[in-house]
Amino acid sequence: MNAVLSPSAGVSAPSWVKHQKLIAWVADIARLTEPAQVVWCDGSDGEYDRLCEAMVEAGTMRRLDPVKRPKSFLALSDPGDVARVEDRTFICSAKAEDAGPTNHWIEPATMRETLDGLFTGCMRGRTLYVVAFSMGPLGSPIAHIGVELSDSPYVAVNMKLMTRMGRAVYGVLGTDGHFVPCVHSVGKPLSPGEQDVPWPCNATKYIVHFPETREIWSYGSGYGGNALLGKKCFALRIASTMGREEGWLAEHMLILGVENPAGEKHYVAAAFPSACGKTNFAMLIPPKGFEGWKVTTIGDDIAWIKPGADGRLYAINPEAGYFGVAPGTNEKTNFNCMASMRSNTIFTNVALTDDGDVWWEGLTKEAPAHLIDWQGQDWTPVTAAATGRKAAHPNARFTVAATQNPVIDADWDNPAGVPISAFIFGGRRSTTVPLVTEARDWVEGVYMAATMGSETTAAASGEQGVVRRDPFAMLPFCGYNMSDYFGHWLTLGDKLQAAGAKLPTIFTVNWFRTDGHGKFVWPGFGENMRVLKWMLDRIAGEAGGVEHVFGTTPRYEDLSWDGADFTEADFDRITSIDASAWKSEIALHTELFTRLQHHLPEALGRVKQRWSERLAA
Ligand code: GTP
Ligand code: SPV
Ligand code: MN
Repeated sequence: MNAVLSPSAGVSAPSWVKHQKLIAWVADIARLTEPAQVVWCDGSDGEYDRLCEAMVEAGTMRRLDPVKRPKSFLALSDPGDVARVEDRTFICSAKAEDAGPTNHWIEPATMRETLDGLFTGCMRGRTLYVVAFSMGPLGSPIAHIGVELSDSPYVAVNMKLMTRMGRAVYGVLGTDGHFVPCVHSVGKPLSPGEQDVPWPCNATKYIVHFPETREIWSYGSGYGGNALLGKKCFALRIASTMGREEGWLAEHMLILGVENPAGEKHYVAAAFPSACGKTNFAMLIPPKGFEGWKVTTIGDDIAWIKPGADGRLYAINPEAGYFGVAPGTNEKTNFNCMASMRSNTIFTNVALTDDGDVWWEGLTKEAPAHLIDWQGQDWTPVTAAATGRKAAHPNARFTVAATQNPVIDADWDNPAGVPISAFIFGGRRSTTVPLVTEARDWVEGVYMAATMGSETTAAASGEQGVVRRDPFAMLPFCGYNMSDYFGHWLTLGDKLQAAGAKLPTIFTVNWFRTDGHGKFVWPGFGENMRVLKWMLDRIAGEAGGVEHVFGTTPRYEDLSWDGADFTEADFDRITSIDASAWKSEIALHTELFTRLQHHLPEALGRVKQRWSERLAA
């Protein structure tokens, strides 16, 4: 870590930074934001330890018990800064139609004026950290570099776990390599002598993207996707626009490897909306009856996917760590995830136990008798029962390096990526949508993904549990016009097919149908393996199913039930298709398509027409 003088004297970079344009840009931003000092992060373990220690002293983080949770920390955020803020997220393309109706658009010049005002002097009294990071393996032809300038040490240490960060990146950047400039401020300048708060932030928040110039500006939040700009801002919103121009895909998808007892291996990529099961699916442990099967993780949140020379689609995980949902995670639901966070983990907004460990709803059946909750208050199960107060925030998260995952795939870091056999799309739907459906072709699959609905979760601020259309699980993350994005998927499929390639099969899933009492009928988690196996068997032409209006779903006898005690009656409950519910569902598709009619590919309208006719028949 190199601390460097006051910005008024210019910004002198360490000797390993040789990129004059980058140095000049850092100086510009320092002039604008007026930090007390500029620190060029080298990404070393020593630097990480020092920053964490400084945050412990400042009260931002608490060190957890060194035996129970070695080298781990707990940060509690401001109660007003707990999730992504979709209504404060902007795509400032030159033309409004290029952002499209699903994004918030503000004319770039107007937004630049606003940002100039907000960022002027916004880092006073703070340190500006220069965080250079690579999304994707260092130096790989598919990787891209970003540099985040942030006044948050919490961001700097999280970026160290989540990306390939620091000195090595400058080696790749050289004297004139391309990088995506990302400017981040918590928006809370300090006057001389002013005492800082544990979690500085600002009620005014702006998460801004300029797709044409590939720039990111984020103000007012220190939390997750608002602040760790390599993740949703770069790897999805900016990368999706890059992919559109260059013929590849940036997706909100996990990537997993699945190997059968004969040693045959496939990779699948799955898009579920935020807090709908990607991390869990990516680390799945096959259930009883699936001895000899292995699931391994390439990535848990984001996939960059490119056509290879052989016409197949190859995927990489641009990230190097997980920022996962804590609540609901336990040794039974996700043993591998629990193992990943046994040490070297940053927890945010979970509860603290009296013996210096962490707790969250769903970790154990019974809550400890006393906790410090995510707002730093005393918490007991008794008072919680009376007030409904949660010990952990529902969007509480853990940050860990991917290398801590015991089932990390051997190829997770392979710059060539892994070939994808299937795409899976899944929403959180308590009704209507069956457990699994196979699309009959690419276009029908794209239609299914485009019209996917899901109940909103705590991952974003706003109302929860309301069904909204979340095309491809990309509603909050697509950096350009959603209809053009559908078109991009269709065009890519056409091209690959014309070249004679076999495209991945597309499936939709829903783990979340409930009974009359709001209880999930499907056990989910490891049991999802049964569905995954059916998909692979379908691809191999070895599994049965029934074709219906919307595609093909398995009958009870088409799934392997070895070791399970799931009844046929329950199976019917989660696979039944209610014609009247589907008529309402299609009406919602119509509503979506009306909203997206500018540039909406005609092929999707034709699928809807076909479905509607079959449904009416
Ligand atoms: P983001 O990080 O927000 O993109 O979320 P994600 O898609 O990775 O979701 P994650 O796997 O973290 O799961 C979110 C919540 O859903 C957790 O509380 C999980 O315990 C729960 N969950 C995951 N898989 C299943 C499942 O198969 N069935 C049920 N009922 N719940 C699940
Ligand atoms: C999501 O919300 O989909 C996440 C968490 O993966 S965040 O990094 O906050 O976007
Ligand atoms: Mn996500």
